[in-house]
Amino acid sequence: MSDQDLNVTEAQIAVHWQEENKFQPAASFIAQANMTDPNIYKRFSLDNFPECFKEYADLLDWEQYWHTTLDTSDAPSWKWFVGGKINASYNCVDRHLEEHRNKAAIIWVPEPEDEPHVVITYQELYVRVNEFAAVLRDSCGLKAGDRVTIHMPMVPELPITMLALARLGVIHSVVFGGFSGKACGERIADSGSKVLITMDGYNRNGTMLDHRRKADEAVETAKAEGQDVEKVLIWRRMRGEYVSEKKMVKGRDYFVDELLQKQKGVRVEPVAMNAEDPLFLMYTSGTTGKPKGCQHSTGGYLAYAAGTSKFVQDIHPEDVYWCMADIGWITGHSYIVYGPLALAATSVMYEGVPGFPDAGRPWRIAEQLNVNIFHTAPTTVRMLRKAGPAEPAKYNFKFKHMTTVGEPIEPEVWRWYYHEVGKGEAAIVDTWWQTETGGFLCSTMPALHAMKPGSAGPAMPGIHPVIYDEDGNPVPPGGTAGNICIQNPWPGAFQTIWGDQDRFVRTYYEKYNKDPESKDWRDWPYFTGDAAVLATDGYYRILGRVDDVINVAGHRLGTKELESACLLVDAVAEAAVVPVADEIKGRVPDIYVALKPGKRGGKRVQDGVVESIETTIGKIARPNNVWIVPDMPKTRSGKIMRRVLASISNGRDVGDVTTLANPDVVEEIRVMVQGEGHGEEAIG
Ligand code: PRX
Repeated sequence: MSDQDLNVTEAQIAVHWQEENKFQPAASFIAQANMTDPNIYKRFSLDNFPECFKEYADLLDWEQYWHTTLDTSDAPSWKWFVGGKINASYNCVDRHLEEHRNKAAIIWVPEPEDEPHVVITYQELYVRVNEFAAVLRDSCGLKAGDRVTIHMPMVPELPITMLALARLGVIHSVVFGGFSGKACGERIADSGSKVLITMDGYNRNGTMLDHRRKADEAVETAKAEGQDVEKVLIWRRMRGEYVSEKKMVKGRDYFVDELLQKQKGVRVEPVAMNAEDPLFLMYTSGTTGKPKGCQHSTGGYLAYAAGTSKFVQDIHPEDVYWCMADIGWITGHSYIVYGPLALAATSVMYEGVPGFPDAGRPWRIAEQLNVNIFHTAPTTVRMLRKAGPAEPAKYNFKFKHMTTVGEPIEPEVWRWYYHEVGKGEAAIVDTWWQTETGGFLCSTMPALHAMKPGSAGPAMPGIHPVIYDEDGNPVPPGGTAGNICIQNPWPGAFQTIWGDQDRFVRTYYEKYNKDPESKDWRDWPYFTGDAAVLATDGYYRILGRVDDVINVAGHRLGTKELESACLLVDAVAEAAVVPVADEIKGRVPDIYVALKPGKRGGKRVQDGVVESIETTIGKIARPNNVWIVPDMPKTRSGKIMRRVLASISNGRDVGDVTTLANPDVVEEIRVMVQGEGHGEEAIG
């Protein structure tokens, strides 16, 4: 039964998550912060829109300065800083040489602890980007506007590849290394890439994975979809060794280190691109259908990534900044590569999984490198809290600033992050945004606002959200939940879905647009697809995707609220809530919990979870079942696969789970919930 069938509107979503007490940022943080001027919000008010974004554009070096801040003639594909010419590689590398030549641009931490770190200075980055750009130009014939797919793990050669392509104006499409060859091939076909850049292998959880084997599958898949890949460039993880079992294909496959031999000392002039020319594509999943290639611009995107990195990430050139995300996601693009490097920061990259070989690893890295800004996702925080709640205290590191991104963070988990990881001193920003938005939409400004656990905070300067009910009426502060939209364009917003402008308009702008012919940005609120509530203090709490909301007897409950209640039970480390079809109530929640190490399950924990939900939310949210599971099914990026759990709870086929990080646990859970025998053919 769909939500529409129950006639329940967004405005009727019930929110039971308690308002939390606020935490003030430390005086030591405020004293050194990049942004301490509350007037920034006035400067970025709608009255000063769009000219206010000049402040971000001026963080960059322009080959030719722009004349028009915002051109809306192709609404809702906005064009920023029109007339400007700029090169992203120049802005992230060349322009820093004079002052920061010998400074570490990238510090790479391999997964094996006995392998030394690799430090790449800005000068070294300059040399390597230039030489590889020469390979791309001379050996592959690539030129501005071409697309190239990159399927690589977390190695420094990945940002080098991106920056070399950007130097030529070639549009890169990075596919997350953990994705299958088939998924990569589909993206190659959609983007029309003739060149694939990959690596032979990489370390993950103590094993050298054969990554090269995925390339053949990717090329075959692309071919079946009508796209020929002419060249596959292969970086080698180990110097002079080839760690894959797959044979090189003559005339198609090339080792990058061999091609580089011919380009020693070659320099490639950065190509001056129009501000609105695409810099990259980033594929993301929609609710249905094939992945969408979100097209990001060069000037607008880079300005927004740089501005938000400076003000929200509080990056100064002398900081050691570590974002433990994967560059295969938008977070890595904006906040490992483009934002930090545009600001001449030192950006740390880690090859492996956070918990390898134990849950103390991230804190050892932080201690060794003297990291002072740390950036990760709630799922990782939950995992580290579960596996080693007392680990951070054992290491001598001190963060001034920490970020959480990607999903709502339960207040209980937030508090562990704050007290144990941040040692009660680091400012935390809970940054809400999307692949489509290029950079942050909501976050506290770390020196200006108090932190509220579980709440992203106010909108970013120049971002003007509105929460609409289903009929398009704005919901006032303190009101019910609804669809959070952004009223105005901003420079980081994606320009279109590659090759599918109709889907772009339909998915993101049609819902609240009143006049499809309008060239006035005011007529085109951006539909984020997230449900949110706005508290009277101006803080937004993101409840999750509109379809992540469970409708129980006409009451809509954010899955996160339920999960948060579960985490209040001492033994519980992780919780996932899924809707189960119910004849009377429409849906009822089924709850899956994983316990902290050494904790025992049983009825006491199950009763504790039910009681916690009833007391924090109410009897309406009483779960159908509380399943205590050995581990949650997770993607390789660590997101809990609620879809898989929902299928199990609803007696459905779980679908293809082979790409999960832990496919075996799915069968264990299935047997626990559905019993032996049931549904076996579907799984096999
Ligand atoms: O539902 C929101 C959630 O993640 C979605 C975007 O996912 P993706 O495009 O993969 O980008 C992730 C990294 C930006 C959003 O629609 N989300 C992201 N950040 C938060 C969040 N939900 C709550 N709080 C956040 N801080």
